Amino acid sequence: MMLIVFLGPPGAGKGTQAERLAELLAIPHLSTGEMLRKEMEVQSELGQRAAHFIQDGQLVPDDLIVDMVVQWLAADGTKGGAILDGFPRTVPQAESLDRALHEMSRQVDCVIQLTVDPDELRRRLLLRGRMDDNQDAIERRLVIYSRQTRPLVDFYRQHGLLERIDGMGTPEEVFERIKEAIRRRGFRERP
Ligand code: AP5
Ligand code: MG
Repeated sequence: MMLIVFLGPPGAGKGTQAERLAELLAIPHLSTGEMLRKEMEVQSELGQRAAHFIQDGQLVPDDLIVDMVVQWLAADGTKGGAILDGFPRTVPQAESLDRALHEMSRQVDCVIQLTVDPDELRRRLLLRGRMDDNQDAIERRLVIYSRQTRPLVDFYRQHGLLERIDGMGTPEEVFERIKEAIRRRGFRERP
């Protein structure tokens, strides 16, 4: 069982690369952002509570998200491994995740940090134009990343789990770098 976490600012390519890696390793991946946007679409209670945070580019409160992820990890489909994109995003989320995994006799095995220049992040997001890809929300998301999520880089480095990957260049180039790191750590690819 391997658990891989993607860490990086908005627009770094977490979703793009997590999807490719999930395919390569034949394991499921969860984007908490995607999950919340689906909840918004069907206007569930969770979706309605999350909507204004997401639109403003703010983080959804930890308690709305932690249970959702832990339930997903407890399901059978992730027994052979899983990839998380966009979670954890705060130190309390990382601590809750560690506690929950400990109870399942599991652990985070590798954290892939994608680094991209801020101007390139803005360019990618404005080009995409998701509901939270307007100038105000983008700037807020970048600040929130620096303040609340970047501390996780040190958190995971101290645990010896961090793989820092240059996220500039084409998606193919970035994926090659990720594959190298994954191989170095001895993860098995789909036969
Ligand atoms: P989330 O959906 O996770 O958004 P994000 O972190 O802002 O990141 P993005 O999805 O915008 O970027 P990405 O790194 O996935 O890059 P992507 O591959 O898409 O979260 C959204 C919101 O949900 C949060 O603001 C918060 O409100 C809430 N939320 C989610 N998780 C939460 C949590 N744990 N706690 C609290 N709240 C939470 O690429 C971006 C674009 O660039 C795409 O168009 C892509 O095609 C393009 N691209 C990718 N790679 C390249 C490349 N190499 N070259 C050129 N273009 C590229
Ligand atoms: Mg994403």
